[in-house]
Amino acid sequence: RFFSFAAPVFTTPGPARGALLAEVDVYRFDQNWPTSPAAVFFTNAAGRIIVSNRAELTMLKRSLPDFLGHSRQSRAGHDIWTLSAGPYLPARALHLSRALPVIGVTAEILADTAPARQIATLQAAVAGAFALVFGAFGLFAAERRRALADANARLEARVAERTRELVTANRDLTREIGERREAEEALKQAQADLVQAGKLSALGQMSAGLSHELNQPLMAIRSFADNAGKYLDRGKLDQARGNLGHISDLARRMGRIIQNLRAFVRNEKEPVARVDLVQVIDSAVELTGARLKAEAVTLDWQPPAEPVAVLGGEVRLTQVFVNLINNAADAMAGQPQDRRVTITIEPGARPQVVIRDTGPGIADPDRIFEPFYTTKAVGSGSAAGGEDGMGLGLSISYGLVQSFGGDIRGTNAPGRGAIFSVVLEPWKNREQAA
Ligand SMILES: Nc1ncnc2c1ncn2[C@@H]1O[C@H](COP(=O)(O)OP(=O)(O)OP(=O)(O)O)[C@@H](O)[C@H]1O
Ligand SMILES: [Mg+2]
Repeated sequence: RFFSFAAPVFTTPGPARGALLAEVDVYRFDQNWPTSPAAVFFTNAAGRIIVSNRAELTMLKRSLPDFLGHSRQSRAGHDIWTLSAGPYLPARALHLSRALPVIGVTAEILADTAPARQIATLQAAVAGAFALVFGAFGLFAAERRRALADANARLEARVAERTRELVTANRDLTREIGERREAEEALKQAQADLVQAGKLSALGQMSAGLSHELNQPLMAIRSFADNAGKYLDRGKLDQARGNLGHISDLARRMGRIIQNLRAFVRNEKEPVARVDLVQVIDSAVELTGARLKAEAVTLDWQPPAEPVAVLGGEVRLTQVFVNLINNAADAMAGQPQDRRVTITIEPGARPQVVIRDTGPGIADPDRIFEPFYTTKAVGSGSAAGGEDGMGLGLSISYGLVQSFGGDIRGTNAPGRGAIFSVVLEPWKNREQAA
């Protein structure tokens, strides 16, 4: 393809001398056009495309409305053409143009919008992805908030439920404590009743001896009184006075026995206090003395000169030793001879009373402190040889000694007989501690 440019050459005064013709081979120019994704073309003043890097455009009339079937629209100030011109021209292209008046042509270019769209799509995708990520974060945060709120609500519900349960448990506990207190009170009362019952049982055991002990001086008083009368009749005033003195002594002795009995039966409620062990054993010996004498039991009791102060209740401690002496007498009741009870006090850091007998010994030492454990006939009555037990004496004594902070033990002596020992808290220690 050639473009020819012709121009006449004139002489200065006259007509044309000739013509100058220049021919340009555009084909070679077309051939060497560097490949470019954009379609480039130059249009002359007549609107015809004279040079292009797309062969199909060359020599087309650019201004025709059906030029390559294009329609055009303006997008954000850009001239966008829509084409249907085969595979070598873009379907949508950005159209740019610039007039080149020096050579009388207009340079135009059709750049494919697809890459830009791709970039825009990519940017949109990236933005979308960001939005998605942020959205996801937002969603995650919202979900977390919702989960937290849910967990919180659940926790509050559980706390409320636990609180309700605790309140109920507390109420139950308070009621149980009340019931327990009542039970404790009832138990204390029952124990006190038992202690009283134990005393009555001991009294039953001692009653024969006691009535003998009271009867004997009474008989003596009677005969002393009778004789005193006779002495008075005969004017023997000294003898009469002597008899009256005997009567007075006997009455004092009876009074002491009755006083001891009353103290023994008294329901002692006093807290623990200073008690003289020697005095306590003296009272117990006095209470049981009549029985021992009646049953021909030798009592070996040498009270120490000094008092032994311990912690306890006088009446209750007396009851313990009365029980132990009665048990010893019971054990030896069927024995024809060698009936002996030995009582010793060992003062010291923890004063101890040891009561030893010469009976057959304890049959089952592990069980003797069990309530109602007895080897004696139950309810057979003291009339049947004085051996009659409820099995309460030792269990009551155990409770009493424990309540004074002491200890009671029963073992068999190496030879024969039983040994019971009662260890008590010394009163001195208590004073020092206070
Ligand atoms: N000195 C002892 N020698 C042998 N056995 C004893 C002696 N003291 C206690 N026992 C045994 O321990 C048992 C329980 O004694 P405990 O004083 O508790 O009850 P009891 O004497 O049988 O009845 P209660 O004292 O109620 O009248 C006795 O039945 C007896 O078997
Ligand atoms: Mg007993």
